[in-house]
Amino acid sequence: SLVPVILAGGKGERFWPLSRRKRPKQFLSLDGSGRSLLQATADRLLAIAGGWQSVWVVTAAHLADGVREQLPELPEDNLLVEPEGRDTAPAVAWSTLKIAERYGREAVVGFFPADHWIADEAAFQATLSAAATLAAQEAAIVTLGITPTVASTGYGYIQAGDKVGVYGAQGEQAGFPAYRVNRFTEKPDRHTAEQFLATGTFSWNSGMFVFRAGVALDELQVYAPEIVNPLETQGVAAYPTLPKKSIDYALMEKTQQAYVLPVAFGWDDLGDWNAIERLLKGENDNVELATHVGLDTHGAIFYASKPEELIVTIGLDDTVVVRDGNVTLIVKKDRTQEIKQVLKEIQANP
Ligand code: GDD
Ligand code: MG
Repeated sequence: SLVPVILAGGKGERFWPLSRRKRPKQFLSLDGSGRSLLQATADRLLAIAGGWQSVWVVTAAHLADGVREQLPELPEDNLLVEPEGRDTAPAVAWSTLKIAERYGREAVVGFFPADHWIADEAAFQATLSAAATLAAQEAAIVTLGITPTVASTGYGYIQAGDKVGVYGAQGEQAGFPAYRVNRFTEKPDRHTAEQFLATGTFSWNSGMFVFRAGVALDELQVYAPEIVNPLETQGVAAYPTLPKKSIDYALMEKTQQAYVLPVAFGWDDLGDWNAIERLLKGENDNVELATHVGLDTHGAIFYASKPEELIVTIGLDDTVVVRDGNVTLIVKKDRTQEIKQVLKEIQANP
């Protein structure tokens, strides 16, 4: 079994203006299901956890009430509230300390981003059960590798090394081969990503991690003492002094204990507006989550918080148009990464 922790403290800035400070992406329903990304993540993990009593969420203070509202069954003791977001390394380190306190260092923990779409839930569960078996047997930091399709710069890249065995075989189910990780590179530049892709030996890091609490704490002790030591001695009071660093840079690029299970359950990181197109594109030339009338308009994405609001376009290609309250965003589809930069300017000159 495995104790799942949902990482739910991110900003989701590339989904602005739909995603706002107190209503970040993980609180939104982006796939038309009516369940937010956070709720869908919890739904998926409930079966694996064996009930709400062992589901955990770690989030930032200004989002804690939102989490309580969205997950009313989450026990208050399982909600870890960070005074402020310091990226995922502190969130993982602190949660792992708390889990070791409650269940012991041998407990198998899984970390799950709250911004993923997963197609085949049964395959997802089978994969995690294999990952948990591997983590229980070896001093392993287990990653789940996704077959890459493009030289994206938004992911971690994992190069598989030696095969160590097959895990999670059950009856008809064949089991999953596991490999040592040769190399983990977080968000490479375009050129490096292209080289990685060309070798055929890399997968994308799914952002989910499975390990025994004690194994991860030992590794953090070696590679990120500046994060884990203050948390161990001062608890949450250490937060203001902690460096802002993701677990990928702080631990995954450095540890020698990483393993990878290649997975195939249908996965998407709902990173920016283009993900909406991947999920919802139908027969229509455009994705229309608004009332849209267009002439000579192709490959565009329209969203309005009030879907009855009319958007009219003439001669517009490959563009995202979003209306939310008193904000309208118009951005070329291949430049949505730059929304983060614009937000900095808006905050500097409100
Ligand atoms: N509690 C907490 N505190 N959660 C956080 C914080 C924080 O300070 N910062 C981010 N998170 C949450 C986000 O809400 C998200 O669910 C998850 O942690 C991952 O953070 P992202 O900011 O979305 O990371 P990323 O997408 O850029 O990169 C990660 O995921 C990729 C796959 O989606 C990395 O692990 C990459 O290597 C990976 O490929
Ligand atoms: Mg993400």
